[in-house]
Amino acid sequence: MGIIILGIESSCDDTSAAIIMNRKILANITANQEVHKNYGGVVPELASRAHQQNIIPVVDQAIHTAKIQKNDVNAIAFTAGPGLLGSLLVGASFSKAFSLALNIPLLDVNHMHAHILAHFIENNNTKSPEFPFLCLTVSGGHTQIVLVKDPCNFEIIGKTIDDAAGEAFDKAAKIMGLPYPGGPQINMYAKNGDRQKFSFPHPNIPDLDFSFSGLKTSILYFLRDKLKDDPSYIEKNKNDLCASIQHTIVEILMNKLRKAAQKTGINQIAIAGGVSANSELRRALYNEQEKQGWQVFIPPFEYCTDNAAMIAITGYYKYLKKDFATQDISPFTRYK
Ligand code: KG4
Ligand code: ZN
Repeated sequence: MGIIILGIESSCDDTSAAIIMNRKILANITANQEVHKNYGGVVPELASRAHQQNIIPVVDQAIHTAKIQKNDVNAIAFTAGPGLLGSLLVGASFSKAFSLALNIPLLDVNHMHAHILAHFIENNNTKSPEFPFLCLTVSGGHTQIVLVKDPCNFEIIGKTIDDAAGEAFDKAAKIMGLPYPGGPQINMYAKNGDRQKFSFPHPNIPDLDFSFSGLKTSILYFLRDKLKDDPSYIEKNKNDLCASIQHTIVEILMNKLRKAAQKTGINQIAIAGGVSANSELRRALYNEQEKQGWQVFIPPFEYCTDNAAMIAITGYYKYLKKDFATQDISPFTRYK
């Protein structure tokens, strides 16, 4: 038998547990929290209560699906941050207790690094990037261009100075009255829309940094003016609005990614995080693969949005380095 790691993810509104043996996933179980749908965003207190209810059944199901016994687990890895404190505490306390009870090592995982290392989960259909490579990490809370030197060495060479790309999708969707999370909704309506129909301004930010708050404001003012003349303007133009907003966000991301590739001379380009599920971003990357000779790495859908498989693979690499955590470790809310 290889090294078996139990991974736990609870940074936001998904409670997830995965079992990995070396780099192969044996189980990846996620309980989504429907409770937030009524509020147009994640309510932190409700999220932590739901994690408490879900965590034991989710772990139990993961162990059962993987056809192992809990005593087979060599170490437990958990998301230490960034994320919502109350949510992180549930995963952290469960993992500490599990580690103590079974007398196995505890591994603390950075959620953003885990999104990137999802590329190293063993998969018959896709190859993993070689080091060094660039990763555009785009989620609900972060937008970064990361120079990945090895599984434990990450240098952020560009980041957002305000909203994240996922937040830009979610806020635009909210303005249009679409349910949370807005990214998949915008992606869905955009499929039948004209992406050139409306043009929104691109930010003028130096180097490899991003900004998305101006886009949100320009969508807000544009629609406010249009709705004055025609209250059903959004409904009538929903597909074209979604396609144009999505196109703008993808263009902003791609422009910086091209610049990063030029600056570093690296042409192995990966994407990670929830927004990497976006079909236009995926298409834009494949275009660039043809035009610029990039080698592009896109994770399977199941490992794009939050999941514990990515926590387990990151835990595996930390386990190999014997980079263990102690019982006094505290979760952290902001990227470090
Ligand atoms: O990585 P993730 O699951 O959670 C965080 O760590 O934040 O990312 C969630 C974000 C949300 O903002 C969601 O709207 C966005 O990913 N997202 C998408 C798509 N699927 C998820 N954005 C655009 N297109 C999608 N298909
Ligand atoms: Zn995430």
